[in-house]
Amino acid sequence: MYAQLVKTSRAKAPEEMSEQERAFQARIDRGEKIEPKEWMPEEYRRTLIRQIGQHAHSEIVGQLPEGNWITRAPTLQRKAILLAKVQDEAGHGLYLYCAAETLGISRDELIAMLHSGKMKYSSIFNYPTLTWADIGAVGWLVDGAAIMNQVPLQRCSYGPYARAMVRICKEESFHQRQGYDLISKMARGTPEQKAMAQDALNRFWYPSLMMFGPSDKESVHSAQSMAWRIKINTNDELRQKFVDQTVPQAHYLGLTVPDDKLAWNEDKRAYDFSEPDWEEFYAVVRGDGPCNRDRLGARVKAWEDGAWFRDGLAAHAAKTRGAKMAAE
Ligand SMILES: [Fe+2]
Ligand SMILES: [Fe+2]
Repeated sequence: MYAQLVKTSRAKAPEEMSEQERAFQARIDRGEKIEPKEWMPEEYRRTLIRQIGQHAHSEIVGQLPEGNWITRAPTLQRKAILLAKVQDEAGHGLYLYCAAETLGISRDELIAMLHSGKMKYSSIFNYPTLTWADIGAVGWLVDGAAIMNQVPLQRCSYGPYARAMVRICKEESFHQRQGYDLISKMARGTPEQKAMAQDALNRFWYPSLMMFGPSDKESVHSAQSMAWRIKINTNDELRQKFVDQTVPQAHYLGLTVPDDKLAWNEDKRAYDFSEPDWEEFYAVVRGDGPCNRDRLGARVKAWEDGAWFRDGLAAHAAKTRGAKMAAE
């Protein structure tokens, strides 16, 4: 998701590279992993900090739309599933902050950049979850799109990021399954429940397509990231894959994808579909989505409310350090 906002310059040609950069590129081309203490171009480091930081922020902010429904889950079992899922997302955020820290930035700096708006998170989390069916749509579509993005990243060139993705992807498939299970119960329920499932699909379909970022025509900036293997597929490739996987699932559920142009194209053996409204996407990224202020406000408040606890931990650590030094 986070990949949607990452921009880097065009790929450097070999003749523009220093000896060191050429050797670095050759390692990537051989499929070697780059590890934290090894030499890397400054731009590689910066791009990864931005990408992993935005990914971490997306996991953390992504807890909010679903957290909204934990106290209103209709059964004990659904509540336990949703709690486990939201806790997983917190864990994903923490692994990813750790991965970003190996690049020489602190978690405090990353969080300060989120709170000041200097760093973004995925636009999808600026949409509200209005009904219980939305929780199904989020798991099915949003986690489904996240998996499309994240599975290839298990093969990315930066070791700590690639390894974090392995565990994250395992958990994401549980998220997607529980969402699909929830929405299928709704789709096969009473007429009112089916209408709620359809309404959730109507509202989440295009924002989910936006999660892959602007179309390749607009996003010429990803060439360098692809050469460095910190982006493996183009935005349009992943979006197409997502549509091809999700449309048959919607048909199976008896739900209608809200797109008049949606049609199977036998020549390309894939679906033709309408692009999302990119004006809306840029407005949401700029901060004018339906929930941007709420989401950021909730994160800043959580950070401020937790200050006493962080202070307590720091004071305790200082005291223990002092006592240890006195004993030595
Ligand atoms: Fe996640
Ligand atoms: Fe997830």
